[in-house]
Amino acid sequence: MPEKIKVVVTRQLIPEAQKLLESEPNLEIIQWHNENPCDRNWLLTNAPNSTGILLTLSDKVDTELLETAGPTLKVISSFSVGTDHIETSAVKHRNIRLGYTPTILTDAVADLAVMLILMAQRRGGEGIRNVLDGRWPQMPWSPALMTGPQIGGSVVGFLGFGRIAQATVKRLVPFGVEKVVYLTSRPGERAREDYFGLLRDQPVSIEPAGSWEEVARESDIVVVACSLSESTKHLVGTEFLGMMKKEAVVVNIARGPVVDTDALMKALDEERIFGAGLDVIEGEPNITADHPILRQKRCVLVPHIGSATFNTRMGMAMESVRNLLAVLRGEEMVNECVL
Ligand code: DGY
Repeated sequence: MPEKIKVVVTRQLIPEAQKLLESEPNLEIIQWHNENPCDRNWLLTNAPNSTGILLTLSDKVDTELLETAGPTLKVISSFSVGTDHIETSAVKHRNIRLGYTPTILTDAVADLAVMLILMAQRRGGEGIRNVLDGRWPQMPWSPALMTGPQIGGSVVGFLGFGRIAQATVKRLVPFGVEKVVYLTSRPGERAREDYFGLLRDQPVSIEPAGSWEEVARESDIVVVACSLSESTKHLVGTEFLGMMKKEAVVVNIARGPVVDTDALMKALDEERIFGAGLDVIEGEPNITADHPILRQKRCVLVPHIGSATFNTRMGMAMESVRNLLAVLRGEEMVNECVL
């Protein structure tokens, strides 16, 4: 590596990854040493003449940033699987390499999908709230109290069928699901054998759906696991929710704007669906205590914690540093995004 290469890092990293970054002697590291997202002006002020930028899903990569960084910029390494914060066409146009962390968080997010399905079906949020608000004495055990649907025997519909969706299927099959339908933008891509090999002995049918309408109509559990794009924004909106079964739940582990929050609240108010479990929501993280979604008893919302396990976040941090260093050293990235 030639002398002092400037890299900009938009977040304090996990200690092991920070150590790895700092172990590279030829770097001039300009870093936002904070757990919270960096200020956009700070990024724009520090981007000029940088060769690499390591950033997170809170940082928008657009023409403004790329032009401000200038022609020295060779690599962007994103501490994320999602790339919707990145204007990929602009990155490609400038021949900038893009690294990301697509595989390491699969299990953690699939685990959370199962948690949200259970919370939505079994009224977890509502139950906890009843206890915290001191209502248990007024609602002793009774046969129909707090009843809800269960996973066994259900049809699970996936919007998007990549790694995380398939890892979720693997977890759900032992619960006794009857059928899985999925909609994918890459219908030619075969489901990965390592997941489906395990399912060979299970009597579960796993079939592509012909349309989103089919997913909406057939599913008892809808899992949103697709990336955010023009065509998936508000895919789960009034029409979709209107076609869902009355006892079905919808879970979003992908990106908030795939679900139209107003339409979801209306569907919940009118009891057109049973419940929802959300790890992500439009407008996050600016969801304050007065947000109307929080008044929905049948909606469980957690603050984008899908990948938040110790091991996963450590792995993501290490991989994003490795991706950054790889390009600077002329080596292959652990995971490079094909643009
Ligand atoms: C990602 O990496 O894109 C996830 O949403 C973070 O949990």
